[in-house]
Amino acid sequence: MEKLKIAGGYPLKGTIKVSGAKNSAVALIPATILADSPVTIEGLPEISDVQTLKALLEEIGGEVSFGDGEMRVDPSRMISMPLPSGKVKKLRASYYLMGAMLGRFKKAAIGLPGGCHLGPRPIDQHIKGFEALGAEVTNEQGAIYLRAEELRGARIYLDVVSVGATINIMLAAVRAKGQTIIENAAKEPEIIDVATLLTNMGARIKGAGTDVIRIDGVDNLSGCRHTIIPDRIEAGTFMILGAAAGDGVLIDNVIPLHMESLIAKMREMGVPIETSDEQIFIGKAENLNAVDIKTLVYPGFPTDLQQPFTSLLTRAKGSAVVTDTIYSARFKHIDELRRMNANIKVEGRSAIVNGPVQLQGAKVKASDLRAGAALVVAGLMAEGITEVTGLEHIDRGYSSLVEKLEGLGATIWREKMSPEELEQLKSS
Ligand code: EPU
Repeated sequence: MEKLKIAGGYPLKGTIKVSGAKNSAVALIPATILADSPVTIEGLPEISDVQTLKALLEEIGGEVSFGDGEMRVDPSRMISMPLPSGKVKKLRASYYLMGAMLGRFKKAAIGLPGGCHLGPRPIDQHIKGFEALGAEVTNEQGAIYLRAEELRGARIYLDVVSVGATINIMLAAVRAKGQTIIENAAKEPEIIDVATLLTNMGARIKGAGTDVIRIDGVDNLSGCRHTIIPDRIEAGTFMILGAAAGDGVLIDNVIPLHMESLIAKMREMGVPIETSDEQIFIGKAENLNAVDIKTLVYPGFPTDLQQPFTSLLTRAKGSAVVTDTIYSARFKHIDELRRMNANIKVEGRSAIVNGPVQLQGAKVKASDLRAGAALVVAGLMAEGITEVTGLEHIDRGYSSLVEKLEGLGATIWREKMSPEELEQLKSS
């Protein structure tokens, strides 16, 4: 097992390229199950979640090749194999196998998903959708079993705006009989990306990206080629670290429209930002002012950027209130930031950040993916050396992070952990 080491305080300068969107990738890959002939997706990020899903498709009989970001999936010989445990537990998005396998085979058995621990993360809205389409859903010993004689289109109102439920219902409905209408649907760009792939496969979907999605079921879907959208959370992480420790950072392969809430907040803080078609330039940020943020569903401020943004706020003058309305317990990075000298307290669903402070290098642990990103941002700002453990979380979502940051002049490297350190980590 490895840890990350960062020597902070060196200004970052240059161009950094964003990879394909993790939260699209983890839905696009299961969506290939719905086709009867090979599907190729290009621009996929080289992250462990993608490798795990590749292995899961192979487990159910898919022929999959993956290299240089391009994945070719031949789903023609797939079977509805039960996946009650094992790799499905490694990532949250394994729940998309439910919708895709139900859509193609009318049955599926999938272990309850894993992923980051951010407080309660129920999937009741996914299940409500599957049931409305005619599936019988049971929960047996930690796995969800889904069966349907046939799937019939239905009108489904989501009680909670959910990215996962919106996509999962879309996956199950594209091959159902008749029309499905999803009301109060989520509007994230990843939903449009999945709808684009499905449409290229022959599905009939209208309204993806709005809060009402209409799907007219078709009998069969066929293979196609699809290019994934850039990762707006990775792009946002780079924008934040550009403001935190940069001296002119150009972010390449980004859709600025996806970044509007972050751009607005960063400008409010005093960060110089210029945007063009596919790039965002973050100028050297001198005196930053504290700003409050509240996470909301898209196009509001993304919960996935709340943690790295909190690190940036430690540099800002004044008191900032960070409120997460999506996940109640997404504050595990705060204790670690405090070890680095941050002045932050948590009150209920909010964190109050007082600044500016000079962060100091320390030994810290990433408890989830974006907490890891927050600690990397903090490490780049800090005086001295920061050691980050829990790298397996960061590797789930950031492709070649060390190499990309080295390209900006960061002093960052991976190091093998000693047996004593591993022992310590286990008991912490
Ligand atoms: N919710 C329910 N019931 C459901 C589904 C969701 O109550 O059936 C609640 C959740 O507990 C949460 C809220 O609704 O409070 C939103 O959850 P959503 O379903 O939108 O989240 P998700 O689909 O499980 C995706 C991303 C997350 C991201 C959220 C919010 C993937 C694989 N994950 O999760 O990404 O935080 O949307 O935008 O797409 C990350 O990338 O670090 C990450 C955690």
